Amino acid sequence: MSSRQSLSHDSAALHVAGSARYIDDIPEPPDLLHLAFGLSNRAAGRIQNIDIAKVKSAQGVKAILCAEDLEFAADTSPSNHDEPLLARGEIYFDGQPVVLVAADSHIAARKAARKLRLQIEPRSPILTIEEALAANSRFEDGPRIYERGNCAEALAKSPRKLNDQLFIGGQEHFYLEGQVAMAWPQENGDMHIFSSTQHPTEIQHKVADALNLSMASVRVETRRMGGGFGGKESQGNAPAIACAVVAQRTGRPCKMRYDRDDDMRITGKRHDFRIDYEVGFDDDGRILAVSFYHFIRCGWSMDLSLPVADRAMLHADNAYFIPSMRIESHRLRTNTCSATAFRGFGGPQGMLGIERVMDHVAHDLKVDPVILRQRNYYRSAARVKEGEQANSTHYDMPVNDFDLHEMTERLLIDCDYKARREATRKWNKHHQVLRRGLAFSPVKFGISFTLTHLNQAGALVHVYQDGSVHLNHGGTEMGQGLFQKVAQVAARSFGISSAQVKITATDTGKVPNTSATAASSGSDLNGMATKAACDCIRQRMTAHLASQYQTDPDQVTFKNGLVRIGDDCITFAEAAKSAWMARVSLSSTGFYKTPNLEWDRIRGTGKPFHYFAYGCAVSEVVLDVLTGENRILRADILHDVGASINPAIDIGQIEGGYVQGAGWLTTEEVVWDQSGRLKTHAPSTYKIPACSDRPEQFNVSLWKGEYRTDTIYLSKAVGEPPLMLGISAFLALRDAISSIGSRYPNLHAPATAEAVWRALKGVA
Ligand code: MTE
Ligand code: MOS
Repeated sequence: MSSRQSLSHDSAALHVAGSARYIDDIPEPPDLLHLAFGLSNRAAGRIQNIDIAKVKSAQGVKAILCAEDLEFAADTSPSNHDEPLLARGEIYFDGQPVVLVAADSHIAARKAARKLRLQIEPRSPILTIEEALAANSRFEDGPRIYERGNCAEALAKSPRKLNDQLFIGGQEHFYLEGQVAMAWPQENGDMHIFSSTQHPTEIQHKVADALNLSMASVRVETRRMGGGFGGKESQGNAPAIACAVVAQRTGRPCKMRYDRDDDMRITGKRHDFRIDYEVGFDDDGRILAVSFYHFIRCGWSMDLSLPVADRAMLHADNAYFIPSMRIESHRLRTNTCSATAFRGFGGPQGMLGIERVMDHVAHDLKVDPVILRQRNYYRSAARVKEGEQANSTHYDMPVNDFDLHEMTERLLIDCDYKARREATRKWNKHHQVLRRGLAFSPVKFGISFTLTHLNQAGALVHVYQDGSVHLNHGGTEMGQGLFQKVAQVAARSFGISSAQVKITATDTGKVPNTSATAASSGSDLNGMATKAACDCIRQRMTAHLASQYQTDPDQVTFKNGLVRIGDDCITFAEAAKSAWMARVSLSSTGFYKTPNLEWDRIRGTGKPFHYFAYGCAVSEVVLDVLTGENRILRADILHDVGASINPAIDIGQIEGGYVQGAGWLTTEEVVWDQSGRLKTHAPSTYKIPACSDRPEQFNVSLWKGEYRTDTIYLSKAVGEPPLMLGISAFLALRDAISSIGSRYPNLHAPATAEAVWRALKGVA
């Protein structure tokens, strides 16, 4: 019924009416304290004195905490226990929290925190990738290396070779709702937390540790986030722990909401990369060998950097079969905020590396970059016969579901690629100032957490005696429409409309031990767990009704809000009531774990992913060769979401992903000055795409392919993969720049107007 229907987001009406409750909209409990951090104003050094006199005397201040005041070492790290809530002696980045101020209003807390005076014996900070390499400042003893074949030998034997270097900037999440949490002390020392987090279980775990409580004494609730984009996988820990710590000490509820500038200074962003590459190929453009060096700025603490860097290595092939390949990945420690998860989780950076290589080789051979790509694609799944060996990736995973040959042909026809390529050439011949560029790029993105044990989910479903359904699962809602899609799964199982399914807040008291809603796997995992719970209840109802009506269980069907039992027909509500009267349990948990995963991250071999998600895009841009200013004129996308549960929501994810990816590679520039101070800490200096920046012509279609993987109703994950379609916009700018000169443009990401202008100077 409600599955495969373009229903709007379950909260759409609330969003536009302003009545959707975010944490800061929850009616405030009496006695609420408001918190703010006092921040370091140096990137590296040793604290000599913390002068809080002026903070103390500021209006409304009720408590001030430094690291020494914390009873239990409050650590906010998701991985390595290397992130104290408040700096302990050493300063690692500009913007690091040093003191915690509690006051009786939000503004009073912020004003007081600004009065902090710190004496820091400065050290010279390690800020750039080059400085980190020179100082051998890193998170693992040495680089991680994945290799297939003997890359050096294959490169040496290649008839043609190229090498170059690409800088890829970071990206600020710019979730509309900043980091926020509220802690409410309960009887007997228990703690109830409201947190804007993608990972309620981790908040529960970290708060329990910081308060020296059992996890069972801490309950975390998340109804929705105003955007997460990976920035709330681990970055929500600090405000939640801060609230819990002060709430435990004072016995008063506490709320903490970062001001936007503080949020941008304190929290992690996308990792910036330097990628050095060498590629060997033949005269036909067949790639024989590629060697990549990934140099990654991870910031001051480990956070999620290791799995992010791994995912970059796992996407260094993107859609291409490359016989010999070597990737050396350096995870560098710097005195900048700790880089963290961001939509694609390292995949986008890895993928941009190989797309740059393809683009460079095509330019060198003067062939259409699309043709070069098609020549190097993995084998089409349609052409891999039963029992035959498919291509495998550089980490030994067979690629059995490769549809990009067919998708590419379809997209090129639909968007009139050939004619537009010719029109672009003609346009550039006749226009001196405004030049156009056109480019194609594909996406193959692996779906699953690479930490295998995270690929599990739970659900809790109740059917009430009036036939209404209460749905809960471990996933969180951040705007991506997960709750609506999972409600549609539940509705389908009971044959009712999804309006009859009550969507409820994620709650660690209902579903335990959840994974972060991340890796695009929210609907895959929670959809399956929910289906298991619903199917279990439906089977109990079926058994009861079959015996009551003295018929076979397979004579009982649930459809259109009705339950048919042989020739009889009752409403779903009547069926629920009847089951309740007969003392049949109408509540069930459900559980799911992704099958057949096996991954050795040290050796870099195995099957880390359940399947791949595919998409492709063509972008057209125009740029002003005098100033470097540019716009995206048109984007055409064909994306594979399998058998979509909700095409409207999926298309929304594709549009949003593309625009966010294009923003990363064009206008969004994170800049630190030479002392390590973030210069881009507000929308005045950091430019995310606005409505007016989306392509004027924006055509998104869903691929109707074969559904090969056993996923929830044969749908595919959609959250992250489309972000990487934005790579086509970056490549289109390269194409436009090339219209004025023959040298390969030295274009780095983000291709801001200045970067484009510099690249223009280099080719002329
Ligand atoms: N869409 C919206 N509107 N807001 C978000 O914060 N996060 C993205 C993506 N789409 C995000 C979003 C990221 S980083 C991920 S991993 C997925 O959604 C997570 O949700 P899913 O697993 O349900 O797709
Ligand atoms: Mo998404 S970066 O996996 O939260």
